[in-house]
Amino acid sequence: MPVSSRLPDFPWDTIAADKALATAYPGGIVDLSVGTPVDPVDPLIQRALASVAEVPGYPATHGTPALRAAVVEALARRFGITGVDPEAVLPAIGTKELIAGLPRQLGLGEQDLVVIPEVAYPTYEVAALLSGSRFLRADGVTRLGPESPALIFVNSPSNPTGKVLGVEHLRKVVEFARERGAIVASDECYLGLAWDAPAVSILDPRVCDGDHTGLLAIHSLSKTSNLASYRAGFVTGDPALVRELLEVRKHSGLIMPFPVQAAMTAALADDEHERVQRERYRARRDLLRKAVQQAGFRVDDSEAGLYLWVTRGESSRSTLRWLAERGILAAPGDFYGPRGAEHVRMALTATDERIAAAAERLV
Ligand SMILES: Cc1ncc(COP(=O)(O)O)c(C=O)c1O
Repeated sequence: MPVSSRLPDFPWDTIAADKALATAYPGGIVDLSVGTPVDPVDPLIQRALASVAEVPGYPATHGTPALRAAVVEALARRFGITGVDPEAVLPAIGTKELIAGLPRQLGLGEQDLVVIPEVAYPTYEVAALLSGSRFLRADGVTRLGPESPALIFVNSPSNPTGKVLGVEHLRKVVEFARERGAIVASDECYLGLAWDAPAVSILDPRVCDGDHTGLLAIHSLSKTSNLASYRAGFVTGDPALVRELLEVRKHSGLIMPFPVQAAMTAALADDEHERVQRERYRARRDLLRKAVQQAGFRVDDSEAGLYLWVTRGESSRSTLRWLAERGILAAPGDFYGPRGAEHVRMALTATDERIAAAAERLV
């Protein structure tokens, strides 16, 4: 049986008519359906990439010592995460590949259960299915009853909802996971983009009491440093789990290209370009949020991250059409799980000009 037959359809074709409608709008489409960065890569990062472009040899799967040190320092400086062993840092060729391969690389199989958020980034489900594991959508540990999952994905700030899980919630997840012998994989790719609520890492001492056992934090530079095109992320946490992933990934040839390692090291050492990018997104968010509220939408969650999770109290497909008639394309909430059926996700990843056009059309 083809492996792909196990995987869900990601049904972009179901919004093709809305896309065509939005494209035909005078002034053109404002495409807020995908979260792809539009602002240029900072010159500092470009120079670091080019500076090692002549190096011919194989890079290390573990990354350079400079890259791993830069990760440790950035996590401490930006998020107050302490006690990370540089040995327990592992680069990923973008975090999507890491997430999709994680259950399998950790040895999970048919007998295992993977827990994913109720409304979720689709790759968690894909990850479970690729490893042959069962998956269950649950936002709280009480929903899990007597189940003993092998792996729990959490995602705060969330894609698509922008919801932030507080220290107490994350502590409960860690406590539950330790009781039941589960690994927690915390996807923190929007951690640096918190607006109305502080976002904390699973490795924050207030969450894990400084004990990283059984915990993995997954970080991407795609959004915070505009590096989606470079494919740059990493995982860190439990040294034993990271060592195991390193072994498996070494044998699999999952190696971050050397120029990207250099670029990522430079990006992690510089907070200024991140701050500038965050302020761009803050301004776009303020404008778009006000406009959707004026247009009668309710904005739910959306405390952090790169999306507004909005509803008009009707089917997401009706809202999608209403927006498309005004030249705006969003993503229907049902893409992310059945509980998203009355929401749409609007990305903040469009130029100032396009966001302003959307705001004008909405009000
Ligand atoms: C929640 C979440 N995790 C992971 C990723 C993957 O990012 P990348 O593969 O670019 O690191 C994304 C991308 O949109 C995401 O939204």
